[in-house]
Amino acid sequence: MLNAEFMTYMPDLRTARLRLRKLTMRDAADIFRYSRDPEVARHVLWDPHHTIGESRSYIRYMLRRYRAHEPASWGIEWLDTGRVIGTIGFMWIQRDNNAAEVGYSLAREYWNRGIMTEALRAVLRYAFDDMGLNRVEAQHETTNPASGAVMRKCHMAKEGTLRGRLFNKGHYVDVDLYAILRKDYNRMGSKRRSAT
Ligand SMILES: CC(C)(COP(=O)(O)OP(=O)(O)OC[C@H]1O[C@@H](n2cnc3c(N)ncnc32)[C@H](O)[C@@H]1OP(=O)(O)O)[C@@H](O)C(=O)NCCC(=O)NCCS
Repeated sequence: MLNAEFMTYMPDLRTARLRLRKLTMRDAADIFRYSRDPEVARHVLWDPHHTIGESRSYIRYMLRRYRAHEPASWGIEWLDTGRVIGTIGFMWIQRDNNAAEVGYSLAREYWNRGIMTEALRAVLRYAFDDMGLNRVEAQHETTNPASGAVMRKCHMAKEGTLRGRLFNKGHYVDVDLYAILRKDYNRMGSKRRSAT
């Protein structure tokens, strides 16, 4: 069963280099620093932030979702500096099916260092071990192969390409759908599950 209380606390999740934690208004400058970058926003459904006010609005939206126990994102804190360098979280959660979708983004200067793989592994562990989910999905635009690499490194399997699935920044785009099931997760040794 899905643990109905899980959103009550959205606990901090620790990994070797990261702390996933709820955002606070103090993170606005950090969020603005990378969310203004058009390269970061290219394959996500939000536009680059033009002002720090837009970053504050985003955080306020997340705070409302935390309070309402609705699907939300953690800030990804880089432990060395305490700065927020990205976000990862749930786009939706279906209690009837024990299923959810994850989404994420990361500041450009941190790309290709295995950081999102480390963060996604922690979220999947939480999803299966604590939330009791049965299926976790993720999708990426076919023109964003780095995101597909993250999913595969987390043992998610590609289930297909959804043609023209999203209208993003003026174009219909194809997306690849990935998922991991509880039985796939259970089959992995605990060492591989927690590898960072
Ligand atoms: C996609 C994103 C989250 C990846 O995060 P990351 O921390 O760089 O990911 P990792 O370092 O864990 O893994 C990236 C993998 O992609 C690979 N990669 C990078 N660019 C690539 C490209 N153009 N083609 C194919 N693979 C690529 C890397 O080599 C790496 O794989 P490897 O470890 O096997 O070498 C990050 O680039 C990002 O935030 N982008 C902007 C927002 C976004 O697109 N979010 C996802 C929306 S679906």
